[in-house]
Amino acid sequence: MRLLITGLNGTLAPRVAEAAAAAGWTVTGWDRQAVPPDDAGCALAWLQSERLDAIAHLAMGGEAWAGLLAGHAAAAGLPMVFTSTAMVFDAEPDGPHRPGDPRTARDDYGRSKIRCEDAVQTAHPQASVLRIGWQIDPERPGNNMLVQLDGWQQREGEVAASTAWRPACSFMTDTAAAIVDLLARPQPGLRHLDSNADEGHHFGAVVQALRRHFGRADWRVREHAGYAHDQRLVDGLPVPPLSARLPL
Ligand SMILES: NC(=O)c1ccc[n+]([C@@H]2O[C@H](COP(=O)([O-])OP(=O)(O)OC[C@H]3O[C@@H](n4cnc5c(N)ncnc54)[C@H](OP(=O)(O)O)[C@@H]3O)[C@@H](O)[C@H]2O)c1
Repeated sequence: MRLLITGLNGTLAPRVAEAAAAAGWTVTGWDRQAVPPDDAGCALAWLQSERLDAIAHLAMGGEAWAGLLAGHAAAAGLPMVFTSTAMVFDAEPDGPHRPGDPRTARDDYGRSKIRCEDAVQTAHPQASVLRIGWQIDPERPGNNMLVQLDGWQQREGEVAASTAWRPACSFMTDTAAAIVDLLARPQPGLRHLDSNADEGHHFGAVVQALRRHFGRADWRVREHAGYAHDQRLVDGLPVPPLSARLPL
């Protein structure tokens, strides 16, 4: 069973590839140099030649690529998961956010993901659009909360952590397991995945727990209340709570 995972040079996709391989999938990636996503003819010819059984679209990129992948998956009857983000919701109106809530993003990233969500759902109503929060992993470079906070400490000399922000967040292995499960047992439509949905820890507490658990004694944590947002993605798929991975 062949699974296409886009964005394999990124942060999360390699963890999804590991989980998929462990579940018996043969994973293939998308080489954007060889097959430019904005060359629709070339992209569709390549997709057809690959004889895929499922698609997990994790790469960044625009709505045209997302829609093209979804259109191919729909025509071929393939399960598809597209990873979206908690950032489709602004802090106003506040959360917790439910799948059917109006999307309120004001920044470029959130608005781009809204357009991608719409492109996927229009082309492939049976696809799963999975909104996730900030990802955590002991090792992965990139957009990994732990590694990003290391960068904050290096650049700013401190880790500023709002106690008025309840972030959506999960460990990557849990997100990867959920994505692989969605491919095997598709759940069409908008889905939320957030390990902090029920426990609702604030960011200050998460940062302190990461500091203790991952030996970041060098972090100077400064708690503040300058960013207020209950960002939790509720009414979502079952996932182990944050405290199962991180003593809080
Ligand atoms: N990491 C998080 O905390 C987090 C949180 C919420 C949602 N998400 C979502 O999860 C997915 C994976 O996130 P990630 O953190 O792994 O992303 P990432 O580290 O930024 O990597 C995304 C990958 O997408 C491809 N890519 C980059 N720029 C591109 C462009 N302009 N056009 C097309 N492809 C491009 C690249 O892979 P290739 O070179 O292999 O194509 C890149 O490595 C994304 O959909 C993201 O929105 C992530």
